[in-house]
Amino acid sequence: MATTTVRYLGLELTSPVILASSGFTSSVDGARRAEDAGAGAVVLKSLFEEQIAAESSLSEEEADYSIHPEAEQYIREMGMHLGPDDYLRLITATKESVAIPVIASVNCISPRWWESYGRQIATTGADALELNIALMPRESTLDRDIEAAYCRIIEQVRSRVDLPLAVKIGPYFTDLPAFTSRLQKAGADALVLFNRFYQLDIDVNALELAPGYRFSTPAELHTPLRWISILSGVLDTDLAASTGVHSGADVAKMLLAGAAVAQVCSAVYQHGHERISAMNADLAGWMDAHGFASIGDFRGRLSQTATGEPEAHERLQYIRALTGIS
Ligand SMILES: Cc1cc2nc3c(=O)[nH]c(=O)nc-3n(C[C@H](O)[C@H](O)[C@H](O)COP(=O)(O)O)c2cc1C
Repeated sequence: MATTTVRYLGLELTSPVILASSGFTSSVDGARRAEDAGAGAVVLKSLFEEQIAAESSLSEEEADYSIHPEAEQYIREMGMHLGPDDYLRLITATKESVAIPVIASVNCISPRWWESYGRQIATTGADALELNIALMPRESTLDRDIEAAYCRIIEQVRSRVDLPLAVKIGPYFTDLPAFTSRLQKAGADALVLFNRFYQLDIDVNALELAPGYRFSTPAELHTPLRWISILSGVLDTDLAASTGVHSGADVAKMLLAGAAVAQVCSAVYQHGHERISAMNADLAGWMDAHGFASIGDFRGRLSQTATGEPEAHERLQYIRALTGIS
C-alpha cells in the first residue's frame, strides 16, 4: 500500500491534503473534524489585520492606511467572537486538541502589526504561519510598488516571527517567476498558489453590485496547475496548490506538477469532510495502480522544467488548441 507522507514547511504530514483557511477552521471542533477525515494539516481561519487594528490604540493618522468604515463595522460585528486575543487562544486550544500540524493565518495589508502580535503568535505553539496578502491596486502608478509592499510585509514578519512562513497570493501579477523569486528572497518558505478572490457580480434587476458564487469549480484548477508546473523546478520554496482542487485526481495532478501539498476548501463545503477521506483513498489507489510507493516517486515528474523547453512546449499546445477550434 502506498504511503502518502509528505514534507511541507519542514513539517511531516501524513497526507498532502490540507484543509484550507475557511469557516471550517475557525474552531477547535472544525480542526478535529478535519483530522478525523484524514487531513494532513489545517490552516486556521484568517485573522484579518483590520481586526488587530480595530483593537489597537493607534489613531487613524498614525496608521499607514485608514480602514473603510463599512469594513470596520463588519469586523467589529463579526470579529467580536474572534479578536486578536481570541485568535491566539484558538491556536493554542487547537494545538492541544489535534496531532496534525496547525498553521495560523493572518490576512494582511501592511507590515505594521508584527512587532508585538507576531511574537505572540510564535508563543502559541502554531506549527507555521500563513500570510494571506491581498493588496488591491487601483491606481496605475502603483505598479512595482505593490510588489515591493508584499516583500516589505514578508521581511517584517520574517524578522519577528520564528516560524515556517507560507505566503498566499493571488494569480494576477505581471511576471510571476520574477515576483515569486522576490517573495522567496524576502523570506517565504512556501507559496500558496493561489488565493481565490471575492467574485463580483451584478444584480441586473436590483441594479446593484452583488457577490458572485463563493465556491470554486474544478475548471479553476488549471491556473494554479500551470503556475505550479512552471515554478516548481525554479523556486526553492515549497508550493501549496489552492483553488479548484476537488478530487483525488486533482491532488495527483498538483503533485505531478511539483506541488508539495494541495489545500481544499470548496470541495469540503460542497461534499462534506468525507471528501478529504475520499481524496486520500483515491490518491493512494492511483499510486498503487501506477506502482508508486511514495509521493517522492512521482512528485514534480510533470513540472515544466522536467519536460524541457517549457515555453516552446506551451506555445505549441496553445497554437494546437486555437487552430483546432473552427
Ligand atoms: C467561506 C470561505 C471562507 C474563506 N476564508 C478564508 C480565510 O479566512 N483566509 C484565507 O486565506 N482564505 C479563505 N478562503 C479561501 C480558501 O482558503 C481557498 O483559498 C479558496 O476557497 C480556493 O480554494 P478552493 O477552490 O478549494 O475553494 C475562504 C473561502 C471560502 C469559500
